[in-house]
Amino acid sequence: MKKIIIINGPNLNLLGNRERDVYGDMSLQDIEKKTKAKCKEMKMDLFFCQSNNEGELINFIQSVEEKYDGLIINPAAFTHTSVALLDALRAISKPKIEIHLSNIYNREDFRKKSITSEGVNGLICGFGSLSYILAIEAMNNLIKV
Ligand code: DQA
Repeated sequence: MKKIIIINGPNLNLLGNRERDVYGDMSLQDIEKKTKAKCKEMKMDLFFCQSNNEGELINFIQSVEEKYDGLIINPAAFTHTSVALLDALRAISKPKIEIHLSNIYNREDFRKKSITSEGVNGLICGFGSLSYILAIEAMNNLIKV
C-alpha cells in the first residue's frame, strides 16, 4: 500500500473561521476527512498533520525519507519565507507536491513568490479543498511502488 503524508502549515488549523471569502467554509478536520476518504478509495495510507511551528514542519518533512512514499505539503505563509523548509524538501528523494487552497498568483505580490515550490515536483493551487484531492491523484501517479 502506498503511504503518503499531508503536511499543513501555520494558521491552517483556523480554516472554517479564517478569511472564509479566500479559504472557504471547510475546517481542516473536514479536509482531513475528505482526503482520508479519497485515499481509502485509492487504497493509499494517509497521515494528515498540521503545525504552526517551522521546526516541527521540518521534522515532518525529514520523516518522509524513512516512513513514506510521497509528501503533499501546504506550507501556508512559510511558502513565501522559508529557506529552511526548502532545504528540508530538497533533502527528500520521494515525490513531493505543494498545494494551496487559494491561487497565490492572483493575490498580493508577496504571495506570488513560492520559495518552497523550488523543492517539489509540482504545484497545485487555487481549487480550494479540491487542491488536496487533485494532489492525491497526482501523487498516486508519481509513486512507483
Ligand atoms: C495558503 C496561501 C498562503 O499564501 C497563506 O499564507 C496561507 C494559505 C493557501 O492554502 O491558499 O496561509 O497556503
